Amino acid sequence: MATRQFFSHPRHTLLSLRLILILSVCLLLGCPTPGFVTVTDPMPPPPRPAMGWSSWYGFQTHISDQLIRQQAEAMLSNGMRQAGYEYVNIDDGWQGYRDAHGFLHPNSSFPDMKALGDYLHSLGFKFGIYTSIGKKSCDGLVGSFGHEAQDAQTFIDWGVDFVKYDLCNLDAWETAPSLVGKMSTALRKNEKHPVVLSIVVLSEPWQWAPRLAVNMWRIAPDETGSYRNMLRIADADARLASFAGNVGWNDPDMLLVGAGGLTLDENRTQMTLWAMLAAPLISSTDLVHLNSSQLEILTDAHAITVNQDPEVKQATIVKQSVVDVWRKRLADGWAIAIINRKKEPVTYVFDPNDLGIQASEAYEIWTKQTVTLPSSITVAAHGCVFLKTL
Ligand code: GLA
Repeated sequence: MATRQFFSHPRHTLLSLRLILILSVCLLLGCPTPGFVTVTDPMPPPPRPAMGWSSWYGFQTHISDQLIRQQAEAMLSNGMRQAGYEYVNIDDGWQGYRDAHGFLHPNSSFPDMKALGDYLHSLGFKFGIYTSIGKKSCDGLVGSFGHEAQDAQTFIDWGVDFVKYDLCNLDAWETAPSLVGKMSTALRKNEKHPVVLSIVVLSEPWQWAPRLAVNMWRIAPDETGSYRNMLRIADADARLASFAGNVGWNDPDMLLVGAGGLTLDENRTQMTLWAMLAAPLISSTDLVHLNSSQLEILTDAHAITVNQDPEVKQATIVKQSVVDVWRKRLADGWAIAIINRKKEPVTYVFDPNDLGIQASEAYEIWTKQTVTLPSSITVAAHGCVFLKTL
């Protein structure tokens, strides 16, 4: 089992500040040459937020071909694949060396990437990989800087369907958008093979990444595994609702259900908020050891339906009192999440009319019960009530 636990890269924060400063100066004084590349012929965006699994929070760099296969097989036998989780993403830790011709090779724990991709595809999964914009990855392994198009071609040759493009170890931070543009253009050469491009660049990427046909952009530093941090990220994401859904998705980071120190109620709250936020649902834990309650949360069909709703709208916070009330427009009604941040249960009288919603009944997703509205609702400590109007 991995030893390194949740962490944030201070370099990300530093980068955000520097890039925000540069962008602000550009806005005020005008920039001589815009650093952005517009990807003129983008692939059609994935119609819904991506769903899948990533090796990062469960294993960090302690990964191998065998482990990835085992996790994918677990997703098939535990019902996650059937519930919609389709990407199997190898995060940092697979990279070996770059050869004299500039080609990137995996380390010895991944003897044949193409064969691994073929195996995942044969099980009905899509294959995801990680690389860094800088010379090195966040964990110090070889990055794609200077080899963007060559690495994109290598990934395509391996059958990769998803690239997580992380930002670490880049000397000139302000070049990040143009490097993202290079990677995006190179990945989108083969129109028959759509590749999801996911970036971790904390410099208001929602402002520029959609122009580069990026499909998801991280909106906050890495999760720390705490409830407070998870809420802080969700609050930040709530303010970005207008940027979600056209080309790509705000990415609040991965689902920690089964990983880290969150309680079951806190896990339900994360799944609820990520569903409301139309966030990519990327589970990041050891799937072999999920218990049945954790699995129930991850595979709940109603929660996933709210996340994948065809209206592709992101929720906003519409009321804050003893609880927070979130509202999301769905193709066939409304989803409402009532979040209790307190360490003790609270009771709240919920009247949908207060939110401009006409409904006399709703389905409560976690208790699987129909509720007559208005209703006096008790919300568990750090828990939530997740309603879908009927
Ligand atoms: C950064 C990313 C994480 C993970 C690690 C890998 O911290 O934000 O999601 O990919 O790098 O080193």
